[in-house]
Amino acid sequence: MDKYEAFKKNIYSLTNINLSCYKEKQMKRRIESLISRNGYKNFDDYYIALKKDKKLFNEFINYLTINVSEFYRNPAQWMCLEKDILPNLIKKYKKLTIWSSACSTGEEPYSLVMLLSKFYNLKDVKIIATDIDAGAIEKAKLGVYSEKSLQNLPNDFKLKYFDKIGMSYKIKEDIKSCVDFKKLNLLEDRYPMDCHIILCRNVLIYFTEETKNIIYKKFHDSLSKDGILFVGSTEQIIMPDRYNLKSTKMFFYQKEA
Ligand SMILES: C[S@@+](CC[C@H](N)C(=O)[O-])C[C@H]1O[C@@H](n2cnc3c(N)ncnc32)[C@H](O)[C@@H]1O
Repeated sequence: MDKYEAFKKNIYSLTNINLSCYKEKQMKRRIESLISRNGYKNFDDYYIALKKDKKLFNEFINYLTINVSEFYRNPAQWMCLEKDILPNLIKKYKKLTIWSSACSTGEEPYSLVMLLSKFYNLKDVKIIATDIDAGAIEKAKLGVYSEKSLQNLPNDFKLKYFDKIGMSYKIKEDIKSCVDFKKLNLLEDRYPMDCHIILCRNVLIYFTEETKNIIYKKFHDSLSKDGILFVGSTEQIIMPDRYNLKSTKMFFYQKEA
């Protein structure tokens, strides 16, 4: 068996992460560069070390998962959410079930809570936020961010919902308590159901076409009748009707049936 094939199998049994679902060339190149940066000769050597060394293991997971995020990432899309998508849903539903499905370190679900505070009393807001990376979830729960990650966030939210601690910004408890963080692997685990909005942004770009197909179908099943899937700015869905989704606005897809 090819060395990378064996490595993928080993990683799957160790972590439940199926590297075959991620774009092969890109993923293999990234892992090879991590291996040589750490001074290992090949996949076998590196895997043996990973199993023994928790720090190396954490570095690998961290590197693999690419946790880059920011508040109000692609602000025009958040504007569309505020002006077009949310008012329509709010007219119909008193309470919304919203799932941020690859939430990384929390910037996305916390942005949502702040936006929803314009429409709802915070005691009525609950967001499900999940990610495969337990380390990212821990950071999300801590809720401490750099100035740079807040650069697109409307200033009134920044002033109202953060405490400045030295050079960092700590999110306030009333926003934090609206988000339920959980570990969830989009490739393996059961999805939350009856969601009025699912956000899946800047993660499917790393997956193979075949895997994307499976995930879009699962998202369709997870959406409530006329629920909305909100995707990232490079992740427009080609022929969304394949999944019984229709494009309502750029980057927003509605469940059809
Ligand atoms: C680039 S971040 C995107 C964060 C946020 N959605 C945004 O757009 O700013 C990608 C996230 O996808 C997560 N991820 C990668 N593979 C995953 C999987 N199989 N299941 C769930 N999350 C996954 C990573 O851990 C990472 O936090």
